[in-house]
Amino acid sequence: MVRAPLPGEGTVLAALWRELWELHEGWGGYASTRDASMYEALAHRLEREAHMRGGLQLIGRHIHLVACFRGQVVGQVEGWFERHGTDPTTALTCEVRSLIVSASKRGLGAGRALLETLGRVAVDACVGPRLIVVAEVLEVNPAREFYRRVGYAPVAFCGRMELGEARVGDRSGFRAALAEPRDALPLALLEAQLTERRRAVGDFRFDRPRAVDATLLGDIALRLGRQARSAQAGIAGVAGLTGPPLELVVRDAGGTVCAAATITVGTLDSPFVPARRAMLGRIVLDPARCAEAVLAPLVGFARGCALMAGAVSLELTDLPAPRSALHQAALAVGARPWTQVVAWSPWP
Ligand SMILES: CC(C)(COP(=O)(O)OP(=O)(O)OC[C@H]1O[C@@H](n2cnc3c(N)ncnc32)[C@H](O)[C@@H]1OP(=O)(O)O)[C@@H](O)C(=O)NCCC(=O)NCCS
Repeated sequence: MVRAPLPGEGTVLAALWRELWELHEGWGGYASTRDASMYEALAHRLEREAHMRGGLQLIGRHIHLVACFRGQVVGQVEGWFERHGTDPTTALTCEVRSLIVSASKRGLGAGRALLETLGRVAVDACVGPRLIVVAEVLEVNPAREFYRRVGYAPVAFCGRMELGEARVGDRSGFRAALAEPRDALPLALLEAQLTERRRAVGDFRFDRPRAVDATLLGDIALRLGRQARSAQAGIAGVAGLTGPPLELVVRDAGGTVCAAATITVGTLDSPFVPARRAMLGRIVLDPARCAEAVLAPLVGFARGCALMAGAVSLELTDLPAPRSALHQAALAVGARPWTQVVAWSPWP
């Protein structure tokens, strides 16, 4: 049976959460705290939420479900609705988080029941645009096969590198830099390529391609102008990476833009041991160039930004499938396969 959490279940849910985080850490995920008081606080919060929820599976943009077996809670899952982009026709995203079935009750169908109910609740809540339900799963997690069996397919991949590791040499003649307003046209063209790439594999989380016209170029130039001004005003924007993602480009020796990406830094909050992680995303390369030669300076520049921002690792997110040139280049410049995003949609 799958239902919303009820008052009195805070402690058992916090224990499930702890099991999940420790499993992830064992698989090489970010370290979680061993502070027992943190889990007591979590149990109290879950208890309060269960009272407020009053048996409702969906509140605001948050779905929370538990699976029961012979009257006992044996698993749980959350779904968080997100809207990416600005186009009102873009699919609504529901992110699957904290899915776990306790070790002794696995293989009995609880995980499938949780995801199927989550899908139904999300479909019922979704009026208007399409829906895409996504989960991010570590490459080494056996749950990848579980997701495949319940109808999810990979749409994006992520590689990770520690920042303490030796830097990849860059003798390619390509140079990475912060994007400038003059880069608006090549960025718009690369952006269209990225959008097509995502949609071709069923990743409908983001906006459709926009027409490359004066309005789009004006928007991009304005954004890049703001970025250039804050960079001139001091290095703070780069060092802290606290504002919007920084847009980067790679230019060849003649100044032609042949790659683009964005970098941002996030903080790992409780229950994780506090740390900063940098993410290089939206990576798109001119397909006519050697992917590794163009990616190496981009990653080198991103590493510099990440180190200045105090990050411990750099993740290369939103990569295409493992056999693609970009994915291969990411591995060649030092990223290790880290996670994949799997997706399910009720619409074909
Ligand atoms: C992933 C997890 C939630 C699956 O829950 P579960 O209750 O064991 O899964 P189910 O019994 O509903 O299995 C559904 C299907 O997936 C398959 N499956 C489940 N776990 C599997 C595994 N580790 N390897 C291969 N197949 C698996 C089942 O055989 C079943 O296939 P079928 O319906 O075609 O016969 C559970 O293993 C778990 O809690 N893992 C640890 C936490 C975790 O990894 N969470 C996901 C984080 S992204």
